[in-house]
Amino acid sequence: MKELSLNILDIVQNSVKAGATRIEICLEETDERFSFWVRDNGCGMSEELLSRVKDPFATTRTTRNVGLGIPLLTLAAEQTGGGVSIESSTGEDHGTLIRADFNKRHIDFTPLGDIVSTVTTVIQGNPDTDVIFSHSAGEGRVELSTPELREVLDGVSLSEPEVLAWIEENLRGQYDQMRMF
Ligand SMILES: Nc1ncnc2c1ncn2[C@@H]1O[C@H](COP(=O)(O)OP(=O)(O)OP(=O)(O)O)[C@@H](O)[C@H]1O
Ligand SMILES: [Mg+2]
Repeated sequence: MKELSLNILDIVQNSVKAGATRIEICLEETDERFSFWVRDNGCGMSEELLSRVKDPFATTRTTRNVGLGIPLLTLAAEQTGGGVSIESSTGEDHGTLIRADFNKRHIDFTPLGDIVSTVTTVIQGNPDTDVIFSHSAGEGRVELSTPELREVLDGVSLSEPEVLAWIEENLRGQYDQMRMF
């Protein structure tokens, strides 16, 4: 994938598929490292699934085929000298936390790309899901929380075009501010 934001979108879609009602997306970067984590309260993964997801090419013919979202992210991270770790639980406190870490200075580091579109797309497709997004880089910080927005919106859906346009503009404005640091 050419943009990391597309890998992130893929990981968030996994949370959606897992039935999450709350998804946190947190990006953190320094001059040298870029890392992000996605935490959801979806159904979680069994230990058996978790081990297959991490190592998809080791599956035997009798096991169900798994997709490529996590393997592609792992490849993208590992080729910069970083990596991916996953914690998941199917118990009472079910959910998944996936964390990816990249070396920004490595020649194979993929730029983040259009994360604002990624976040807006996720909200558009899942207006009733709580999405908590933040991105911190040095002194700068961008954040957006749909539970907070919903309080202000007083019943108006987050999928309304005007609301989505406002969200996108708000995020782009925050990024413009962030770049001034
Ligand atoms: N957040 C999550 N919660 C619960 N299960 C998950 C989560 N993320 C991944 N999984 C499980 O791991 C499997 C593999 O995920 P992965 O993203 O690698 O592929 P996929 O979603 O099956 O297919 P693709 O991403 O290629 O469309 C998923 O099918 C799902 O069963
Ligand atoms: Mg996937």
